Amino acid sequence: MTTDVMQIEFRKTERSRIQEVDFNNLPFGKHFSDHMFVADFVDGQWQNGQILPFDNFTLSPALSSLHYGQSIFEGMKAYKNEEGEVLMFRPLDNFKRMNESAKRMCMAPLTEEVFMGGLEALLRVDADWVPSTPGSSLYIRPYLFATDTFLGVAPSKTYRFCIFTCPVGTYYAKPPKVKVETEYIRAAAGGVGYAKCAGNYAGSMYPTMLAQQAGYDQILWTDAKEHKYFEESGTMNVMFVIDGKLVTPAVSDTILKGITRDSILQIARQLGIEIEERLVSVEEVISGIESGRLTEAFGAGTAVVVSPFSVIGYQGKDYMLAEHPAEKSIAVRIKNYLTDIRTGKVDDTFGWVY
Ligand code: COI
Repeated sequence: MTTDVMQIEFRKTERSRIQEVDFNNLPFGKHFSDHMFVADFVDGQWQNGQILPFDNFTLSPALSSLHYGQSIFEGMKAYKNEEGEVLMFRPLDNFKRMNESAKRMCMAPLTEEVFMGGLEALLRVDADWVPSTPGSSLYIRPYLFATDTFLGVAPSKTYRFCIFTCPVGTYYAKPPKVKVETEYIRAAAGGVGYAKCAGNYAGSMYPTMLAQQAGYDQILWTDAKEHKYFEESGTMNVMFVIDGKLVTPAVSDTILKGITRDSILQIARQLGIEIEERLVSVEEVISGIESGRLTEAFGAGTAVVVSPFSVIGYQGKDYMLAEHPAEKSIAVRIKNYLTDIRTGKVDDTFGWVY
């Protein structure tokens, strides 16, 4: 697949920073590639598409996104195949989801030309930053924020779209311990839970800090009404293996429509694994661990890909989840298959690789 590339102005860096990065030790989100793509929405249209050296913006203290939070983002990854070609994974799905978030946050939608044109141009200019070591990838961060300098509470008329990238390794050093949250909530029906807006992440930080102080790594979010059903975990969708079936909360307006989530479900179907998308109660999961019917629980998202949980904490008690050898774990089997598709090692029968 290719797309028409928009007219983009290029100003390349005079000094690449790539030699300063240890590609064998890539913490998440710390090393930024040489360039960024920037475009502005002004006078009702997208303009000024530019590839620039990664650098600071000059912003007004009255910038409306800083005050009222019209700010959304996406997370995507690119890989290298054995021939050294750069492969993006389902970028058009991120484009579509970004515009769903933009609609909910009353922001100007992006055009495919700007999103895909900017992405392609950036990955071409920084192709050397795409790592090829196993477990690593280039994390891509497209984001959109309001740029009006105005303190009235109203949708901004101007926006900036930016994409930058960072080479990354694995997100969690070890399988996270997660705590079932029964006081705070992440999202409520009719709210913005399905949108990838900055405020959703800000709101999660305080409860996550409390969970970390209690010895956990992340939160397992439950529903806003009764804290009875699982929603997401941390910044991930959540999945369970119960009676050999892959069970996951159905997406709704409180749950992000994860692209990794959807990819996992499609792969599972192809592998002949039975899937259930439905309400998953805390009671079902806890009793499933106790009876041995629940064998795996994991988070799924762009940054983590698939992240098995080691412990689920609920009402002061820790429920341990055994680590399975790769061949016995549905999560690991699917993760490996997904990685093989993304890195071009197996045929992409789904049409996901760009
Ligand atoms: C992603 O997986 O892309 C996320 O949204 C997680 C990110 C906030 C680190």
